[in-house]
Amino acid sequence: MCGIVGYCGNGNVSEFLPACLKRLDYRGYDSFGFSVLSNGDHKILKRVGKLDYFAEKIQSGNIGIAHTRWATHGKVSEKNAHPHLSCDKRIAVVHNGIIENHSSLRRALERKGHFFSSETDTEVVPHLIEAFLCEGKGFREAVTLACNHLEGNFALLILDKKSNQLCGAKNGSPLVVGLGNEGIFFASDPIGFIDYAGKAIFLGDGEIAFVKMEGNSEIEIFGFNGEKKAAKKAVKINLRRWQAEKNGFKHFMLKEIFEQPECIESCTAGRIKNSLPVLEELEGFNGKIKKTERIVIVACGTSLHAGMIAEFLIEKLWKVPVKVECASEFRYRCPVIGKNCLVVAISQSGETADTLAALREAKRRGAQTMAIVNVEGSTIARESGAAICTKAGPEIGVASTKAFTTQIAVLLLFALYGAVQRKTASKEEIKLIVLELKKVPVKMREIFEKKNKIKFIAKVNSKYSNFLFLGRGIDYFVALEGALKLKEISYVNAWGMPAAEMKHGTIALIDKNFPAVFVGASGALLEKLRGNIQEVKARSGKVISIINECDSETAKLCNEFFCIPKTHELVSPLLSIIPLQLFAYYVADEMGREIDKPRNLAKSVTVE
Ligand code: F6R
Repeated sequence: MCGIVGYCGNGNVSEFLPACLKRLDYRGYDSFGFSVLSNGDHKILKRVGKLDYFAEKIQSGNIGIAHTRWATHGKVSEKNAHPHLSCDKRIAVVHNGIIENHSSLRRALERKGHFFSSETDTEVVPHLIEAFLCEGKGFREAVTLACNHLEGNFALLILDKKSNQLCGAKNGSPLVVGLGNEGIFFASDPIGFIDYAGKAIFLGDGEIAFVKMEGNSEIEIFGFNGEKKAAKKAVKINLRRWQAEKNGFKHFMLKEIFEQPECIESCTAGRIKNSLPVLEELEGFNGKIKKTERIVIVACGTSLHAGMIAEFLIEKLWKVPVKVECASEFRYRCPVIGKNCLVVAISQSGETADTLAALREAKRRGAQTMAIVNVEGSTIARESGAAICTKAGPEIGVASTKAFTTQIAVLLLFALYGAVQRKTASKEEIKLIVLELKKVPVKMREIFEKKNKIKFIAKVNSKYSNFLFLGRGIDYFVALEGALKLKEISYVNAWGMPAAEMKHGTIALIDKNFPAVFVGASGALLEKLRGNIQEVKARSGKVISIINECDSETAKLCNEFFCIPKTHELVSPLLSIIPLQLFAYYVADEMGREIDKPRNLAKSVTVE
């Protein structure tokens, strides 16, 4: 998705803006651009491609904005790259999100004589502000009026050359203000200014922050209703610099895979006491947990797979019905939601537009809401009745790895916590599972010691163009996630499905060139799974499997297998996904793919 950054202060934008923009690299983009105010004019530079190959020096100045574009409206071109200007070139704008009513606004502005030079939805913004300025409004009023005319999601940075002002407006898309020694920063994510600002102000929807270049830059926040807001408390940014570096790993994804033991430790730290789960974030929410008659989980992509695992865990431990839904579909049905229904939104970024929309729909229908996010202070966290942070640290690789396993750890703790509150599982059973959860970091490290085996399996199988990922019970959800990891970073066709479902059609695809990856690591339904393996073998299909170390019976049936340490069934996804993440990584690396920034993908999907 698009990334936006802005700077206003005593330093030089040519130092800050490219570096800040590079920090947002992980979001995925196809072109980029800058506007710097210099000698009373916008100095614009736009290029197609990646910042890595960008050698030109941008103009010096004390105030500027920049953008990485992930094309939605209009093809990838310099013309469509941001910033976009008003006709009189007074106003420059960068934007993340989608202006849904851009067509009607454009038609109206064109009728008034405005000339558009791009195909983007964004370009209506500078022209709209210009139209209000022409009516005699001041910059602040013109921006406020424009924001009130825009429909859809947006985070905007607007630079006015006449008043030497920069402002950031937020509605639905993320925007954070960074307070640094050398000035004020804006970014779509605090990682953008991590090197220069130690404190941040998270803007709320319907807010505009104005910064003026007058000696020391100062910030004032106004609502879309024009009223000035009380000063907001700045929060310390809790991202250690090293977390945004590769630290010797070839890719962020590999580093993040190997970070998982520490991430699970930090995610569970303070959340287990006397071998029982403790979730302070849910204090005050316990009454609601006890009354819950039904749970609906909304999420997308990898977070959706974590949600499917949660369905399995919660139904088993709470004995209430749980439904998992693609967040993007939820609000376009008529979901039957009552006040004793708890809607749980799962999102690494906490900004995914589809998940946020589903959460809002659930609230509108009177549900209790809860979020599981990796970014504290994110919109989904703020808008939920309660929020639990996964504490995985910043995830830079586009393919989610450590966010997934920490989501599962939190969801397992949540399922156990609810079972204690509701008295639906015995303390002995709960303590046994908690004990196994505590052993996960050590067992993950044991898997990493055998990474060369999975690297070898990946290498010999990287010649295939199609894979089936199969599992039963809780292993099925791990199979789905394994398939997603492989397809998104290697572009190899990979499908996940329940192992027994294969015979209802998909088995027609199996031949010697279509390997099947079986996940049987939970140890459940093994006899049945072995039957499904035989079905593939009988059709000359190659079988690769992820099993637990005690399962020599299944190992005998497979062409290649990888063993993980034995654990409790409900804990097993935390271990069985590791070899599949590594498998996807090594296949993609063997194929020379751009692993951290796969084509067409974006890290934070802030459009519907
Ligand atoms: C896959 C991946 C995506 C995200 C999805 C939801 O590796 O990262 O499928 O899981 O876009 O994002 P969040 O969790 O930020 O809501």
